[in-house]
Amino acid sequence: MKGFPSNFLWGGATSSSQLEGGWQEGGRGPTIQDVATAGSNDSPRYFTYRDAQGRPGRYPQFGGTLPDGAQYAVLPGEYYPNHDAVDFYHHYREDIALLAGMGFKVFRMSICWSRIFPRGDETEPNPEGLDFYRRVFEELRSHGIEPLVTLWHGEDPLYLVNTIGGWRSREMIDHFTRYARTVLTAYRGLVKYWLTFNELNNTVMFLDLMPPELAAAQAQDTYQQLHHKLVASARTVQLAHQIDPSFQVGCMIAYAVNYPRTCAPQDVLAAMEKDQRITHYCGDVQVRGRYPAYAGRIWRQAGVRLEATDQDREDLRRGTVDFYSFSYYSSACISAGGVREASKGNFTIGEKNPCLSYSEWGWAMDPDGLRFALNAVCSRYGLPVMVVENGLGAQDTVEPDGSIHDPYRIAYLRSHIQAMRQALDDGVDLFGYTAWGCIDEISASTGEMKKRYGFLYVDRDDAGRGTMARRKKDCYDWYRRVIASNGADLC
Ligand code: BG6
Repeated sequence: MKGFPSNFLWGGATSSSQLEGGWQEGGRGPTIQDVATAGSNDSPRYFTYRDAQGRPGRYPQFGGTLPDGAQYAVLPGEYYPNHDAVDFYHHYREDIALLAGMGFKVFRMSICWSRIFPRGDETEPNPEGLDFYRRVFEELRSHGIEPLVTLWHGEDPLYLVNTIGGWRSREMIDHFTRYARTVLTAYRGLVKYWLTFNELNNTVMFLDLMPPELAAAQAQDTYQQLHHKLVASARTVQLAHQIDPSFQVGCMIAYAVNYPRTCAPQDVLAAMEKDQRITHYCGDVQVRGRYPAYAGRIWRQAGVRLEATDQDREDLRRGTVDFYSFSYYSSACISAGGVREASKGNFTIGEKNPCLSYSEWGWAMDPDGLRFALNAVCSRYGLPVMVVENGLGAQDTVEPDGSIHDPYRIAYLRSHIQAMRQALDDGVDLFGYTAWGCIDEISASTGEMKKRYGFLYVDRDDAGRGTMARRKKDCYDWYRRVIASNGADLC
């Protein structure tokens, strides 16, 4: 196959809460991810808390909220998979050497905010936290790997969530930008590519996963929280450009490809509305610097009155991103008449597509959807694009000789790389690809370990047992050849 552009950034992606572990080491404070239990494909993850009387409680991730007066808390007897994750905190040297063995050009990772500011409201950062990421970035650079750093991958410091209600409060904007300024300044010269918020649009996608009454009750709060994050993102972009004009800062969107279920105009319009609400709402603000015209309809329908100041609008206008990045896993069908047979996906739901096959976790496998998304982004914004998450979550078997044969993962990745090649031929300015979960890590949606994406297998199970030893899967050598041939050899 025709190769990719000569400076194409091939690599893999991770997030700190799913990878790092060491939740109580190096002066790190707890985050909201530290109070999430493990679930499965059929049972939800729970957030745990203590109520106003100190009694333990929990509610399902998309099926409840924190009772008045309660505080999120780590409870005895509960299992929290993100506490140790896969212990990158102690394995980072070995892990980076293994990634370098595949010829990685780029490694996407996130900084855990509460490693830098343990409570989130301090004025001085935690030197041990700063030092940890400095060592990681230096290690990457020593192997010729470019870090791509997400500033926020869902890890709000628990103290801020418990004391000011997290992003409900405008104060979060200042806390976040103080953190952002600190790390942007500290890692100048080590990091060039930054993403502000991971999958910012999933703030509103989550509403679709809730029971309708709960979603209606949460709408005002959710859109206001998202507004605060959008302003924080825009201020961060401005700060980044002031600190170092060579910094490249991107948005990161969970790209939901929504096909109309039929050619009925009502289905086409339903898919368009879902695209606007779920897929484009955040990117339109982050790229164009203002809310799109259709936002008014969305707020009206959801009964939302957004509180936005003139300064907010000015910040949004000034803080537009340099490139667009997104995650892509699957697509769904949308029909005006409601959902007949529901499909799952990356925090999205829609209808099953009879033309596609599905993963073990019920996510559609649709490489053409990636080409579709790349073209849509290119024609909508005309910005350079990077695919920063893509992959197949699947169970792997370790053979008696220690080998791991994963032709299903290779087939998935191959077809999506072919789709990217087609998008390049379509004229899309695609400059990089980071396969999700390049080292097996904790699943975000289910908290499972057995939902694996990696080129590197980690010996750990759903109950937290295992040695944490790393092993190469068959896809490790396959991806090494892909990178060595710059995408020409996909066999
Ligand atoms: C995206 C997230 O939602 O998809 C990742 O940015 C997540 O954090 C990935 O892990 C895959 O989802 P899951 O639920 O299979 O881990």
